[in-house]
Amino acid sequence: MDNLRLFAVAGNPVLSSKSPLMFRRAFEAAGMNAVYIRLAMRDAGQTARTIRELGISGATIAPPFREEIIPFLNTLDRSARKTGAANIVVNDGGSLMGYNTEHENTGTTPTAKGRAIDGGDGTKAEAADRLLAENARAFCIFTGREAPLGEMEKALHEEDLPRPHRICVIGFMGAGKSSIGPAVAVKLSMPHVDVDASIEKKTGRTIRQIFTESGEEVFRRHEKNEIEGILGLDRCVVAAGGGSVLDRESAKNMKDSCLVVWLFAGLNETRRRIGGDSSRPLALGRKTLDELFTGRIPVYAKTCHLLVKTDEASIDEVAERIVYESDKAFGG
Ligand code: S3P
Repeated sequence: MDNLRLFAVAGNPVLSSKSPLMFRRAFEAAGMNAVYIRLAMRDAGQTARTIRELGISGATIAPPFREEIIPFLNTLDRSARKTGAANIVVNDGGSLMGYNTEHENTGTTPTAKGRAIDGGDGTKAEAADRLLAENARAFCIFTGREAPLGEMEKALHEEDLPRPHRICVIGFMGAGKSSIGPAVAVKLSMPHVDVDASIEKKTGRTIRQIFTESGEEVFRRHEKNEIEGILGLDRCVVAAGGGSVLDRESAKNMKDSCLVVWLFAGLNETRRRIGGDSSRPLALGRKTLDELFTGRIPVYAKTCHLLVKTDEASIDEVAERIVYESDKAFGG
């Protein structure tokens, strides 16, 4: 099994955060098998629950939640206690420890001091400098190692978000892809494509029939071909089947050409929604649902640009959050 460690930034909005790029470089430089994702959160309580449910090892907390998160943490460092705010959270087996390093971020990194980043003005350079200092400190707290500052700085000049002409929703069975995908499409006046429904239409067979008559491998081939075709469309919202990101090439193509949103519902809610669903062959299959659920987390984490939680909000609220994040990051 993939022993990938998960880290994240939680915010509202959060999509334009450069932190995933910084940490990707830092993890690579340190030879760590780890990924850092963006959590589009409604509030601090949801943030703490998501950290625990996904087993996220450490998170940076964006300003809207730094005070609000305190009651959801188990322990606080001296500075978090003193200021009543935490900008870094470490998860030790479900026990959350809050740190506040804000007072340390006084622009002491060599990065942006007195010069512009990306042709911006001094204020932009200072913000970049603060972000770099904060993330370097977070890396140190998360890993116990010194941060590769030079590598992290390079990320300030990188982009990882494709324009949102295509939005792809991914996630485990029962996460809400087939209902939230169309709701996002309506809000953005874009066509909607459901990968499973397209396969059923083209083959004239249900997903269950394909699995039982031809086997999973044949289904996966249909799925891969279908995705390849869809990614050639100009503008659309795609609801991908739960296993569509298992194929590395499809996952990479999705990430390169779509804004990929991981719809996440916790395990209990997922069990409630799909346990014993006979139209979903894998919900009945040899692997227990729990194993399948846990095993898929690394795959979704590596493929997504953004995570939205779907078990604490209506379809419309989740769709609205996705549109809001996209508007904030790209200008709506
Ligand atoms: C699968 C999920 C299903 C469907 C097939 C396999 C999976 O789609 O593609 O049963 O591997 O997770 P939904 O996620 O839409 O249920």
